[in-house]
Amino acid sequence: MSDATQTGTGPRTPVALITGGGGDIGGASAARLAADGWTVVIGDLDLAAALATAESVPGAVHGRRLDVADPRDISAFVEGAGAEFGRIDAVVCAAGIEPAQDLAGIDVDAWDRTQHVNLRGPALIAQAVLPWWARQRSGSLVNIGSRTWLGGGHPGYAASKAGLVGLTRSLAMELAPLGVRVNAVAPSFVRTGFSRQRGDERMLDAYAERVRAVTPMGELVRPEDVANAVAFLASDQAARITGEVLHVCAGSQLPTFL
Ligand SMILES: NC(=O)c1ccc[n+]([C@@H]2O[C@H](COP(=O)([O-])OP(=O)(O)OC[C@H]3O[C@@H](n4cnc5c(N)ncnc54)[C@H](O)[C@@H]3O)[C@@H](O)[C@H]2O)c1
Repeated sequence: MSDATQTGTGPRTPVALITGGGGDIGGASAARLAADGWTVVIGDLDLAAALATAESVPGAVHGRRLDVADPRDISAFVEGAGAEFGRIDAVVCAAGIEPAQDLAGIDVDAWDRTQHVNLRGPALIAQAVLPWWARQRSGSLVNIGSRTWLGGGHPGYAASKAGLVGLTRSLAMELAPLGVRVNAVAPSFVRTGFSRQRGDERMLDAYAERVRAVTPMGELVRPEDVANAVAFLASDQAARITGEVLHVCAGSQLPTFL
């Protein structure tokens, strides 16, 4: 739990913002943080999904509409949450898209949208939260990256996630004097709404089996596994950890050339 519980006139509930919290990994992270006693504000392009998560998760979870590709939306979301809940302790950037395009199929608009959602979004969210963190002298940013930053994937997606690691490490350096930690969690394939962009259920069954077969631990990663890593990095248990990429991949981030 954040230092926020120890400051002020008495115990205070720490506040976390989660982008993409209407989705599976963001939703599991919301559930885990709420169970740990955080007040959670979910921002998602899909307002119905954000509200459904807020409704289904026990604890103080609130759903809001947010397009992380729109800088004005980001300002309004952060200012609204800060004004309503009085502080911002952790931010989890889980909103993401992956247009299934190889090099020959690159579409400029889809490429730009991917960079805006996956990479510029976390940068602008961090910028909007900065005044809160500067006042509080503490905070934690957890970016949801991807194993593809190492292993490659669809070029525009993998490039956005590799860029997110660069952003994570740069912000870790810049914000360390404020007591703000910045880390990334990089999962391998997780069967979620996101993966349904790849094809129908039968295709996904076959894909999941191929991934499982080459994964050293022989198991697929679940949203809850990612949420556990998010909760750790967001909390004071990770007090002196910053600038790291925590792979939640059941070993599939390791070289498999043998
Ligand atoms: N599922 C996987 O295999 C996998 C693997 C590695 C990394 N990731 C990353 O995990 C994160 C969460 O993915 P997920 O698997 O839970 O997928 P998901 O599709 O279930 O969730 C993504 C959420 O982001 C929201 N979103 C999309 N564009 C948005 C925007 N412009 N503004 C605000 N919200 C927006 C969607 O509405 C959705 O609720 C993503 O960043 C993704 O890149 C996923």
